[in-house]
Amino acid sequence: MSHLPVTETLFLPFHRTSVGEEEARAVLDVLQSGWLTSGPKVKEFETEFARFIGAAHAVAVNSCTAALHLALAACGVEEGDEVIVPTMTFAATGEVVQYFKCKPILVDCKKESFHIDPEQIDRAITSRTRAIVPVHFAGFPCEMDAIVDIAKKQKVRVIEDAAHSFPASYNGRMIGTIGDLTCFSFYATKSITTGEGGMVTTENPEFADRMRILSLHGISKDAWTRYAANGAWRYDILEMGFKDNLTDLQAALGLAQLEKAELFRKRRAAIARLYSLSLASFDGFLPPPEPDNSCHAWHLYVVRVDPSCLTIGRDQVIEELKARRIGTSVHFIPLHLHSLYQKRLGYRTGQFPHAEQHFANAISLPLFPDMTREEIDRVIAALQEIAVTYRR
Ligand SMILES: Cc1ncc(COP(=O)(O)O)c(C=O)c1O
Repeated sequence: MSHLPVTETLFLPFHRTSVGEEEARAVLDVLQSGWLTSGPKVKEFETEFARFIGAAHAVAVNSCTAALHLALAACGVEEGDEVIVPTMTFAATGEVVQYFKCKPILVDCKKESFHIDPEQIDRAITSRTRAIVPVHFAGFPCEMDAIVDIAKKQKVRVIEDAAHSFPASYNGRMIGTIGDLTCFSFYATKSITTGEGGMVTTENPEFADRMRILSLHGISKDAWTRYAANGAWRYDILEMGFKDNLTDLQAALGLAQLEKAELFRKRRAAIARLYSLSLASFDGFLPPPEPDNSCHAWHLYVVRVDPSCLTIGRDQVIEELKARRIGTSVHFIPLHLHSLYQKRLGYRTGQFPHAEQHFANAISLPLFPDMTREEIDRVIAALQEIAVTYRR
């Protein structure tokens, strides 16, 4: 018998972007300025973002994928090197390693969390390892002290995938100031957005210079420097680069969002708290862990279906929520379960049991700053109803 209710309720999406008049005005100003591509707004966005984080350098690019790619290039990754990547991540983290004809060396999660296990990182390091790429899953920082210790001992670089973790901190230090390089995403669903966009922060001026050059065809001067009133037209192609630059239109949007970043974070944290308090009052779903030494960015709120309490699994819970007009997502299908990783790189199902276990039960609930109290209560009520209906 189906318990799916028929409803006319409005669809509650997994994500709704929070942009207002400020963003519209900022973008319009750029449209009317006569300069749309990378120029003064991008420089201002880099300066303000670096100031917010407390980083020495910030390089704006058109995605976190580009940021990760350039960060690996800055570290001198070459064909045949190995880069350690968690299997519990998005396509981008593993893909960029393969751009260099390198093998991503996948590592399992910890048993109790979605985070990369430092002990397994240590075991995965070989003489070919060049870098470790921890992912601050959902916005909850990884165990950076342990990871940085391993990296220092083994003389490898740490490139943090902080696509989910702006703004966040670990032991009082902002994410973006700990590893050799940190990569952020401003994709449409992220904590601040430029539609598409990314940023790399680093304390190393040589890394920053190299990434700036590589992000625009490997040429010695950007267009703004060439076309400005006091600019000079001549340029040199120093090395083979890419077209990874952010535009002034996007940077203006980013600057307006940056102003609201702390407000957005507080709102996300408040919604997460409401979810966790409610989930603790009935059986069926395990709330995500909360850090005690970190500030969580709460990009995602990932609950786990508790199979010891429910007669249905994750997929069916998602269908039940969908029937109640509630959108969800799943983060992530571990990399080693995908065709590319099995057919080309030889990974197999069963190889990383903790990641598989987490994935099997994970559901990302709607979480965005403009969620109303009514919308939050709808999600909680739906989960409670499902828990009661399908109690084991
Ligand atoms: C963990 C992780 N890394 C990298 C990325 C890539 O970000 P972007 O879409 O900005 O390239 C994503 C995107 O969702 C992500 O979740």
